Amino acid sequence: MEREKAKAGRKPLFEQPLAGQYPGATVMGTEEAAALSEVALSRSPFRYYGSDLQYKTRNFEDNLAHYLDVRYALGVTSCTAALFVALKALKLGYGDKVAVPAFTFLATAGAVVSAGAVPVFVDIDDSMGMDPFDLDRKLAADDEIRAVIVVPLLGYPCDMAALMAVADKHDVRVIEDVAQSCGASYAGRKLGTFGDIGVFSFQMNKLITAGEGGAVVTNDPELFVRAVRFHDQGIFREQERYGLQSPDETDAFAGLNFRMSEFTGAVMGEQLAKLPDILRRMRIVHDLVRSELQARAPQLHLRKLFDEAGCAGCYIALALPTPAIAQHFIQALAADNISAYLLYGGMPLFRRDIFRLRRTVEKDDFPYNYPFRNLIENPETSCPRAIDLCPRTVFIPISPEFTREDGELLVEGILSAAIGKEENE
Ligand SMILES: Cc1ncc(COP(=O)(O)O)c(C=O)c1O
Repeated sequence: MEREKAKAGRKPLFEQPLAGQYPGATVMGTEEAAALSEVALSRSPFRYYGSDLQYKTRNFEDNLAHYLDVRYALGVTSCTAALFVALKALKLGYGDKVAVPAFTFLATAGAVVSAGAVPVFVDIDDSMGMDPFDLDRKLAADDEIRAVIVVPLLGYPCDMAALMAVADKHDVRVIEDVAQSCGASYAGRKLGTFGDIGVFSFQMNKLITAGEGGAVVTNDPELFVRAVRFHDQGIFREQERYGLQSPDETDAFAGLNFRMSEFTGAVMGEQLAKLPDILRRMRIVHDLVRSELQARAPQLHLRKLFDEAGCAGCYIALALPTPAIAQHFIQALAADNISAYLLYGGMPLFRRDIFRLRRTVEKDDFPYNYPFRNLIENPETSCPRAIDLCPRTVFIPISPEFTREDGELLVEGILSAAIGKEENE
């Protein structure tokens, strides 16, 4: 029957293209508008002072810390800024190497380079997250790697127990780049709270959004104070709020400005309040699609999920047998008005020219010109899984607007596109 449906000329399963993949923006409405106008009418858009300060950013930080069950949260302007702040809070820079996953967005490794350190790419596993075995091997081989950035891609937690054990064993710091997975968890604990520092993005295509924005979270007061200072020109203005006084500024240093505005804080407060419902709605459809596919087509290679209860539910992903079959699969889904694609064009990050050619904005190839003792491993030989999986793993977005019926149709579309193609090749 599926094969019959795959034949050309039939009506698409969905009459209209399915809604886009912008969960937070999709549910934006009067609540965000009201919060924004409160800030405008207060004429106090700066978070630290004003004639009628609404404390939107401060409240958002408190609520985010409470939601994640972490001691400190700091709003910043983006996740790229948050990564930069996190790296500097951890005193990472010139002369350091930082392990990053072979498959992630530009910003993860870009922030490392901008902070003056050098990224070392680590292979991925079947969850498309960092492979703990390759991390272990690379940390054992190179004691100049001082930190690792773990990235749960598109809502799926990484193998956190194994990754944290490896990081502990080699005594390296851990940053979790949770840009794409705010609210997802592992073993009942929210992502972003396992390592030394967690960072989040509130850019447009994230689970909650103000168009732009980010956050840094940590349980460590010393790291938090360094993060606050670096994000605000070296100043720590709210010492009493946290009971973390350092009046003589002996711990101060020159910083930059990555402060979150009250407008962003206002929108993010409302978006955070909506996050549990966004996740609940996506999870219903995600779980339905995943379990139906597992039951009806066990031969399909669904992306590995390390914690069934902890995923955000924003994407279904599966690895097709070859890149060519993956392209056919995407086209067959498109004919049914189901959007699907290869994440980052199916390319591991180390193949992008920026990293392949070690391009930086600085003169003299800084920071790649540091006289490291150990050679940086070539990811072309050390990350075979990423080279294999990325160009044949297809991601299908799930919107909080999808109904159960949409989920059921999605299953039909995926089965028809995947099984028809596999049998025909
Ligand atoms: C994994 C990851 N890290 C960092 C970022 C950067 O986030 P921002 O756009 O907020 O700087 C993104 C954005 O897409 C991302 O996906």
